[in-house]
Formats: sequence, C-alpha cells, structure tokens
Amino acid sequence: MSTNYDPIAEQYQRAKQQLWRSFVESYTLMELIGDPTGLSVIDLACGEGFYTRKLRQLGAHRVRGADLSGAMIDLARAQEAHHQLGIEYIAADARALNPSDKVDLVVAAYLLNYAQDPGELQAMCDGVSRCLRPGGRFVTVNANPLLHFPTAPSYRKYGFETQVPSLWREGAPIRWIFHLSDGAFEVENHHLNRDSHETALGRAGFQTIRWLPPRVSPEGLTRHGMSYWRDLLEYPPFIFMECVKAAGDRDTIPDSLAKLPLGNASREASRQSRQSGTKPKRGSS
Ligand SMILES: C[S@@+](CC[C@H](N)C(=O)[O-])C[C@H]1O[C@@H](n2cnc3c(N)ncnc32)[C@H](O)[C@@H]1O
Repeated sequence: MSTNYDPIAEQYQRAKQQLWRSFVESYTLMELIGDPTGLSVIDLACGEGFYTRKLRQLGAHRVRGADLSGAMIDLARAQEAHHQLGIEYIAADARALNPSDKVDLVVAAYLLNYAQDPGELQAMCDGVSRCLRPGGRFVTVNANPLLHFPTAPSYRKYGFETQVPSLWREGAPIRWIFHLSDGAFEVENHHLNRDSHETALGRAGFQTIRWLPPRVSPEGLTRHGMSYWRDLLEYPPFIFMECVKAAGDRDTIPDSLAKLPLGNASREASRQSRQSGTKPKRGSS
C-alpha cells in the first residue's frame, strides 16, 4: 500500500474534480477560512496547489505551499509556470518547518491524518505552530476522528470508498479508494482520536480548537438535492478544524531547527532522521 504521493500525483490531481470536492470540501474549507485578503499564508501538504492557488486568487498577500512529495510540487510549479500567481512552492516535511517569517494563516488539507501515532501528530502540530505568528490561525480538513470507519456507509456514489483493513484502534489505517474514469487508485491514512488531536494541538500552543462538520454549498444542493448528499453529511468521513495559536508565543522549536529557513528545514529533517536511523515518512495518513 503506497502512501507516497509521487506515483499517484497526477491521479490525485484529477480526483480533485469529483463533485464533493467543490460542493462540500472546498465550500466548507473556504467558508471557514473567510476572506484571506492581505494575509500571509502557508498551505501545508499543499499537493498540486489546489488550495494554494485559491488562496492567492482570493487576495492572500504572500502565499507559499509546502509538500513532502516532489511530484506534487512539480505539478504545482508547472501550473505556476503556466499561469503565474507569485506562489512559492517548496518540497518539505511539515514536521520540520520553521520559517523565519511567521504567517497569519496556515491551511492544511489532509496533513494531520497522515500521522501514524500521537508522536508524529505532535511533530506535525509543532511544525504548523512554528509557521504561525502568535494569534495566527490554522484551518484544516482531515479524515474524521469521530467517525467509526468500520461501520461507515459506502461513499461509492461520490466517487470514492473507504476500508479499514485491520483492527479499529488508535493508529489504525484507513484506506481510501478513489474511482476515476480510467481506473482507481488508493491512499492510506491513519485514525487518531479526538483527544490525541486536541492534546497535540494544545501542546503545540493552540488555544482555541473548533471542530466543524462539512456543509454543502447552495449550488450543490440545488443541482443534486439533499438526498444525494445525506450519507456524506450524516456520516462525514472528513471533518474541519479551526485553531488559533495563543497570543503569547511559546517556543516549541528544537534548537537544531530554530534558525533554518523554510526551504532548508526538510533537508535538516532528513539529515536528522538519517542520523537517528529513521526515514522521514512520505505521505502516510
Ligand atoms: C490528500 S493529499 C492533499 C493535497 C492538497 N492539500 C489537496 O487538498 O489537494 C495529502 C498530501 O499530504 C502530503 N503530506 C503527507 N505527509 C506530509 C508531511 N509530513 N509534510 C508535508 N506534506 C505531507 C502528501 O505528499 C500529499 O500531497
């Protein structure tokens, strides 16, 4: 089972065209973000830049995207080259980021669900926090820790399915099968419960943590009707969060990373993991 996005980058990009992405995922996320005009933003786990471009087009002042997958970043850069928006894309591990210029807003669509255990979740939340100025906001969507995936309904009519291949417990893998016109592809992420998320976010310096369910856009309702969306809304496989970093900054930065610019942090993380004998994880949920 691949959790490395390099080989599936192009398929994942096409899977963003499924109806639920725009009428539910994107609608809810962008409503939650609100007007980004003038904000400095980092889009973590930006993939091919789906939300990175949206944020810039909506008026965010300085926008950067970072992703672990070089192939995803290549796709994002290709679109930037084709239609320049002034976005900077970086191949980097969110767990190791520490930009010198902190931002107003961090967005991360489907980053936290790649943590396989509470330690990895903590490293991600610390990375998010290090990107933000005190009082900055973190808006994110992830696989839903509140849903019991083994008994979830089929989401096949929306273009994807979920499976739990082993025992349902903390860290259990969740397999997502996306169906495209020319075949299917899979990604796997992991279940960590609500307490694990709130503990990690609290330790990373977030004060306010709000959980929000998905909503359907008015256009999605008009075009497809409520009955079409019911399963997705009643058993949401993904959920949104808005977190605010405490106004008094806390230092969650390991000394070795404290002075690294954004682009060097992933190289430093790789160096450290080589030294400790562990490999940095690639896109696991
Ligand atoms: C499901 S995709 C989402 C991409 C994009 N946010 C979107 O919504 O289209 C998840 C992305 O998370 C990235 N990712 C996973 N772990 C990461 C990490 N530790 N640091 C940065 N990116 C990571 C993967 O490479 C992949 O591109």
